Amino acid sequence: TKRVAILISGGGSNMLALLRDMAAGDHPARAVLVASNDPAAAGLARAAAMGVAVAAVDHRPFGKDRAAFERALLEPLLAAAPDILCLAGFMRVLTPGFVDRFAGRMLNIHPSLLPKYPGLHTHQRALEAGDAEAGCTVHEVTPVLDDGTILGQARVPVLPGDTAESLAARVLQQEHRLYPAVLRRFAAGDRTPLFL
Ligand code: GAR
Repeated sequence: TKRVAILISGGGSNMLALLRDMAAGDHPARAVLVASNDPAAAGLARAAAMGVAVAAVDHRPFGKDRAAFERALLEPLLAAAPDILCLAGFMRVLTPGFVDRFAGRMLNIHPSLLPKYPGLHTHQRALEAGDAEAGCTVHEVTPVLDDGTILGQARVPVLPGDTAESLAARVLQQEHRLYPAVLRRFAAGDRTPLFL
């Protein structure tokens, strides 16, 4: 079975969806670590409650020195020896040096239909553009932000009266379906994109 580490920054609802699917059995991967750049991230307690090892590496003492933060983050990460690294609501930009270590085995979930709306405020941007559809994307991580081969996408309608919050909630429900499904396939060596 493949070893999976997950990086989070917040509530970790996507992380939870991944952990639940891996714990359900008949899965080609298992979770070996959940790590966060925010020691207060609610997802850390949720992962620990599921019996998964957790680590917190606060990015703030490192200031603008991303490489130094990443060296500290690599300590628990390399000790856990993951085959696959999943970003799940991880809100720090990673340097090419870090990304290259996990080339071809790092996934991210992003709340837009990439290549539309890389970066932040994706739902607000979709609403302002008058899009009829929104969604989420799981992709391989490369040194370019929110770039990399698309491994799966799920779409939702934009409804009349939607706010960024209501749209985000509708997309998040699909994230919880998409990410576990893509990780299952990826861990089994299947990189053909999944469209839900
Ligand atoms: C999710 O919507 C995820 O797609 C997004 O943050 C949320 C995290 O929620 N990720 C990004 O915006 C990455 N730049 P969660 O902590 O409940 O999974």
